[in-house]
Amino acid sequence: MSLHEGFGSGNKDSTPDLKPNDLVMTPVNIAQEMIGFYEIEPHHHVLDPCKGDGAFYDNYPECTKSWCEITEGVDFLKWNKTVDWIITNPPYSVFEDFLRHALKIADNVCFLVPLAKVVSSLRRIDMILDNGGIVSIRTIGASRCGFPFGFPAAAIHMKRNYKGRTKIEKWR
Ligand SMILES: C[S@@+](CC[C@H](N)C(=O)[O-])C[C@H]1O[C@@H](n2cnc3c(N)ncnc32)[C@H](O)[C@@H]1O
Repeated sequence: MSLHEGFGSGNKDSTPDLKPNDLVMTPVNIAQEMIGFYEIEPHHHVLDPCKGDGAFYDNYPECTKSWCEITEGVDFLKWNKTVDWIITNPPYSVFEDFLRHALKIADNVCFLVPLAKVVSSLRRIDMILDNGGIVSIRTIGASRCGFPFGFPAAAIHMKRNYKGRTKIEKWR
């Protein structure tokens, strides 16, 4: 049975603070395509901070990999080990806490999110730019990701100490 079955979906009894949009699972093909955008090497450590049903975690290439998932009792906000990559679709209701903590512990943070989640707040933009910069933004329709809303989404790659240009293109 799916971890999140039964709550549009999700285990809302054990994690009553989670909102339905926190529990939108990424289609496996979309997770695979997104992982393919990035140059993960076998010696890298990749963390999925909120693995859900594992669309990202199960598809990372050969590397050291770890996961957190609050519904399985592992809270990312308490994870302290540094990693090379975080690649995932994060929960939206705690997006800013996730972003802050991800930037602190990972050299590369790649989030599949509604684009507005990142650019709607100067505090969030500053958080990213004070840490480094944005390497790439690949835009994609939310419906293609199976997301139940109409906002444009994007795979956003944020990198520590990155001061180069940002590539903005369509997800192809
Ligand atoms: C939008 S879903 C995406 C799940 C998965 N990454 C995917 O792309 O299919 C976000 C996930 O974050 C989990 N979550 C929420 N808060 C968390 C926390 N503090 N630590 C770890 N996982 C959390 C939720 O239970 C949910 O599974």
